[in-house]
Amino acid sequence: MQLDVTSDESVTSAIAELRRQTDHLDALVNNAGVADSFTHQPFEEPIDVVKAVYEVNTFGPIRMTQAALPLLKASGAGRVVMLSSELGSLQALLDPENQFYAINALGYNSSKTALNAVTVSFAKAAAPFGIKVNAADPDYTKTDMNGHSGYRTVEQAAEAPVRLATLGPDGPTAGYFFDDQTLPW
Ligand SMILES: NC(=O)c1ccc[n+]([C@@H]2O[C@H](COP(=O)([O-])OP(=O)(O)OC[C@H]3O[C@@H](n4cnc5c(N)ncnc54)[C@H](OP(=O)(O)O)[C@@H]3O)[C@@H](O)[C@H]2O)c1
Repeated sequence: MQLDVTSDESVTSAIAELRRQTDHLDALVNNAGVADSFTHQPFEEPIDVVKAVYEVNTFGPIRMTQAALPLLKASGAGRVVMLSSELGSLQALLDPENQFYAINALGYNSSKTALNAVTVSFAKAAAPFGIKVNAADPDYTKTDMNGHSGYRTVEQAAEAPVRLATLGPDGPTAGYFFDDQTLPW
């Protein structure tokens, strides 16, 4: 179905269509994401570019998860996965030894840090409903986002999101994972 995660109207109508098809939702994977050009220096990045990135990467998952909440509650074991990035890890970005240390993309990096904070907030609020909310870093993956220059395949990158979307009752919540490893916030 058509969906623009930056639009209240589009999200509302997509969820309404889903409700016509099913009475519950077991898993929501917030995968949509955009990057800024990675060429701007932070002091020169236009605020409109930063806002556009946040609209998809941060506000999109908030809008989608809030809209899907009734269906996730009805599942009794809803799972929400946020496609984050290691570029959202403040600890990684402050580590000169980290392979991504030099990537100082103001909009993208901070939108994913904010998404990590959203993950923790939603995980705490969702716990009483048996819903688990986790963030996954697919790592540098061959997709349109990077002109297919990534070193991981989509299949490799999808493993953790699928695992987190199908967690059993003893699985983690409010976590941030690369494959099965926990990442530092
Ligand atoms: N590739 C990497 O190396 C990498 C690394 C770390 C994290 N990630 C994260 O992984 C996720 C997937 O990225 P990707 O590499 O697969 O990027 P991609 O190839 O550029 O795909 C992005 C997807 O997001 C969708 N999208 C963009 N804006 C949207 C909107 N407003 N509403 C609904 N859908 C929208 C696009 O749909 P359309 O095609 O219809 O526009 C597309 O399907 C993103 O959250 C990204 O930040 C990727």
